[in-house]
Amino acid sequence: MKPSVKQEIERLRTELERHERLYYVLDQPEITDAEYDALMRRLQALESEHPEFDTPDSPSRRVGGKPREGAVEVAHSSPMLSLDNALNEAELREFDTRVKSLLKGEAFHYVAELKLDGLSMAAHFHEGRLKQALTRGNGITGEDVTQNARTIRSLPMRVGPAAHVPADFEVRGEVVMTRKAFDRMNAEREREELAKFANPRNAAAGALRALDPSVTASRQLNFFAYFLLAGGKALLDSQWESLETMGNLGFKVNSHRRLCEDLEELLAFIRELESQRESLPYEIDGVVAKVDSVKQQERLGWTAKAPRWAIAYKYAARQAETVLEKIEVQVGRTGALTPVAHLTPVVISGVTVARATLHNEDEIERLGLAAGDRVLIERSGDVIPKVVRVVEKGAHRELFHMPAACPVCGSHVVREEGEVARRCVNSSCPARLRESLLHFAGRRVMDIDGMGEALVDQLLARGMVKSAADLYGLTAEEFLSLERMGEKSAAKVLENIGKSKSLPLPRVLNGLGIPFVGERTAQILADYFGDLDKIAEAGVAELQQAEEVGPKVAAAIHEFFAEERNRELVRRLREAGLRFTQEVRRKAVGALAGKTFVLTGTLPALTRDEAKERIEAAGGKVVGSVGRKTNYVVAGEEAGSKLAKARELGLPILDEAGLLAILNGEAAG
Ligand code: IVH
Repeated sequence: MKPSVKQEIERLRTELERHERLYYVLDQPEITDAEYDALMRRLQALESEHPEFDTPDSPSRRVGGKPREGAVEVAHSSPMLSLDNALNEAELREFDTRVKSLLKGEAFHYVAELKLDGLSMAAHFHEGRLKQALTRGNGITGEDVTQNARTIRSLPMRVGPAAHVPADFEVRGEVVMTRKAFDRMNAEREREELAKFANPRNAAAGALRALDPSVTASRQLNFFAYFLLAGGKALLDSQWESLETMGNLGFKVNSHRRLCEDLEELLAFIRELESQRESLPYEIDGVVAKVDSVKQQERLGWTAKAPRWAIAYKYAARQAETVLEKIEVQVGRTGALTPVAHLTPVVISGVTVARATLHNEDEIERLGLAAGDRVLIERSGDVIPKVVRVVEKGAHRELFHMPAACPVCGSHVVREEGEVARRCVNSSCPARLRESLLHFAGRRVMDIDGMGEALVDQLLARGMVKSAADLYGLTAEEFLSLERMGEKSAAKVLENIGKSKSLPLPRVLNGLGIPFVGERTAQILADYFGDLDKIAEAGVAELQQAEEVGPKVAAAIHEFFAEERNRELVRRLREAGLRFTQEVRRKAVGALAGKTFVLTGTLPALTRDEAKERIEAAGGKVVGSVGRKTNYVVAGEEAGSKLAKARELGLPILDEAGLLAILNGEAAG
């Protein structure tokens, strides 16, 4: 018998829920985006033909509906408290000793979880369906954010019946934004000249409390569950079991968790995760340890603001305050002048920081920075520390101005149109040579270990090298004549110089220091042309045949090889025996190769066919429906559901001018 419409709608919803879980919770999709989109369209079509079967928890509602009126405060089923902190191992040991003494020597376990850097949320389920979601608020009452929560794809809107779980229950957990989603959002805000968010946490908070749920949807939030309750109390006897149960119910539970026998195991987990911290897709600020048994939790009890059975071990702050002593200008290998902050040295998570990058003069202006100010510095991963903001203005402020002449060679400085950086015009400026050599010898370039600042500075001071090619003519005797250079280190550097000759073409190309040609573009050029000489001889148009090479980059490459001193460098590197060729591996031609576009609405000047033709001529593809893998949606007048879908998925949206800019290579393809 043919299924009724109602049955068909239900079948589609269940199917879509299953795929959402596979994709957003388990990271194991079984179908393609296009297949998913097809199921979703079929559901949407049936739902709009049959509004009588409408329900707020249909997967079609994930896009965010009507804006809500304003904040509605709702009481929590039991207080949402916070956690006490342990800032170092000693404080964690104190906590452990206290737990042991309160439990009078009884055996117990800790559950170690990540302390996700987001905001907590309580999700109430009634008869297995998401009924209400609340922010933490003041801990006693929170703000109703139900419609916004529905747009969080890793939060299920319905869960099936499960053993030991009543149909009415509550899940508490953390709402976070991934670093990727955060970066994408901020890049977009920058393009739209909107204020950027300081960190993913603030962005997530803004998104969760937004009045318009479609804003929440576009921010791609995640929900990680960490408490399972009923009637305001823990539902099961063990925290570990709660996490497993929530995972089985379909909630996203962080996979970085461990049931620890004792403090030592807990400390091992803390250390392990600290080393992985920067590579996690979202930010964490520590590890939460919870006594596993709920009976024991009850015996340990609570203070006015936090449980005695849990603690947050905080990783050392990656920020610190210090004084900006002066701003100095450095000259990079392309001649770009970069202001650098010289700071009163300060230790940030074990590393002494004395300098921070300031990027350019616009950045200094944005920060409102002047020498003498007290500033907040941030270190993240391996990147150069940066100034976050001014904490307190100094007494004798000296406003910074970019110098009109190169601070190293005194040549004049230009700021080219459309560029933020100023450059020293002297191509043989000593600062440029120094930086070029350091770049050339770098680990990811020609990988000449031992050729660091100290050695390069000596070689330059003695006039022993005037270009990277000279490195290949240096002898053991010459190295031995330098300070702090023994036989062993001299032999080692020479060996490394020798070894660099066999590195592949993209390394050599990157080593040349052509403006805009870094690792990736060097690889693309090498793959397309297969021969350094062909690249050097190529015209601007030909260069743009290589994927991702636009007019600006092509012009820079062409200009570089037009200059005699650079041609000389290339000649001598060839004589030294460096690799100049490789096999040609052409991926595709055209600036838009591999990119898919969706056109929607009416464009002001181009017809749809014209737009399509031009995209295809540049190697792009035009498809009919918007999916997660669509690269761009071009929207004109009266764009409809495709535009909404694109917003929902957070895809880049172009107007006609934006499309033309991409076709002309003015924006990143
Ligand atoms: S347990 C009373 N577990 O940290 C128990 N909290 O200072 C409190 N957080 O407001 C929550 N990850 O926003 C818990 N795995 C985790 C957590 C976590 C992040 C946040 C949460 C809470 C704050 C406590």
